[in-house]
Amino acid sequence: MKTQVAIIGGGPSGLLLSQLLHTRGIDSIVLERQTKDYVLSRIRAGVLERGFVGLMREAGVAERLDAESYVHDGTLVSFGDTMFRVDFTKHAGHHVTVYGQTEVTRDLYAAREAANGKIEFNVEDVVINGADTDAPFVTYNVAGEERRIDCDYIAGCDGFHGVSRPTIPADVRKEYEKVYPFGWLGILSETPPVNHELIYSGSERGFALCSMRNENLSRYYIQCSLDDKPEDWSDEAFWEELKRRIPSEQADKLVTGPTIEKSIAPLRSFVTEPMRWGRLFLCGDAAHIVPPTGAKGLNTAASDIHYLYNGLRQFYEDGSPEGLDSYSEKALARVWKTERFSWWFSSLMHSFPDQTEFDLKMQIAEIEFLRTNEAAQKAMAENYVGLPY
Ligand code: FAD
Ligand code: DHB
Repeated sequence: MKTQVAIIGGGPSGLLLSQLLHTRGIDSIVLERQTKDYVLSRIRAGVLERGFVGLMREAGVAERLDAESYVHDGTLVSFGDTMFRVDFTKHAGHHVTVYGQTEVTRDLYAAREAANGKIEFNVEDVVINGADTDAPFVTYNVAGEERRIDCDYIAGCDGFHGVSRPTIPADVRKEYEKVYPFGWLGILSETPPVNHELIYSGSERGFALCSMRNENLSRYYIQCSLDDKPEDWSDEAFWEELKRRIPSEQADKLVTGPTIEKSIAPLRSFVTEPMRWGRLFLCGDAAHIVPPTGAKGLNTAASDIHYLYNGLRQFYEDGSPEGLDSYSEKALARVWKTERFSWWFSSLMHSFPDQTEFDLKMQIAEIEFLRTNEAAQKAMAENYVGLPY
């Protein structure tokens, strides 16, 4: 087979790129290791930056998002019983949009299918060949049959554990990593959210986050030990711990119920440089990971797609390689700022196992500064709604 852009990975990055290219008549094939149902069963992000929503509109897939999503003009931050609001619209002139990654992915799959887009599921043994030559190709197996795609460019959208990043030779790649000594235990429950905006709660028992998907679907997280397993936490134990970590006024009105999903995610900051090698471009989690505090993972994947899509568009429409040549530099400049924000917000809100009493006082002082200082709130709001592309 032949295509212009071979896309490895059918998560949100790969699908969004494929759909955007389609709007410009640029052909692509998406290779996904899992089934569609499996990809759609992963419960992940829930907060979209304006840039992400703009890309969904540009890709012509925002009809359901525009009809069913929720606008959030601010968020609440608390420590113990002290709670305050950071107003995004006032301080940054924009809001964020609450719409789950599962729904984003569902809409993108529907659009690709409606356009007869080529997506191969259940692919195995994907190998990227000749990325540093003018004739790259990808080989893979489906149901025991080996296949080959010849292409102009390859987009590595295959997440943190994919094959694209390790295709770049180790002596070309430089990786930066920070692993945090805790995880997040997340649950979904068919209960009304405790509050109409998100609450990021610090406490001496650890971090908690109250989020949502809709009026009757809540998403809650608590910081947990990396040794914990989801099955160690009964629903009752989860709710009790959550209540201890959020302001008592919120705990008193929390509606609990059976959980319909429970999973643990580790927290990591990670960046690989460069994000391009020859004709291979890394996008999203294949190139970088942020800790989830501040909801930047999916949004940062989208900003990569913005830069790559525009680079490819410029190349195919005007013959100019400028956008592709500057891809890595432009994407990384924004990635590092987002890494900084996610690291800052994570460091501010979590209990660290080796934390001293002094460290705790510093966290409380910084939260108090954020509570009382408009410039600090503006800096947070500008980052939360998403830095410009
Ligand atoms: P992915 O979503 O990982 O998609 C990559 C795709 O590539 C997958 O479908 C995978 O099956 C496929 N693939 C992998 N290897 C191969 C291969 N060799 N061949 C073919 N296909 C392959 N972000 C937030 O903002 N908020 C959150 O609450 C949040 N929670 C998260 C929870 C978990 C457990 C994880 C892992 C991530 C979470 N994130 C969250 C991050 C966010 O979900 C990611 O940033 C986002 O999914 C990145 O999209 P992506 O398309 O780049 O990668
Ligand atoms: C969600 C996850 C986050 O990491 C975050 O900062 C906000 C919301 C969520 O899953 O709803």
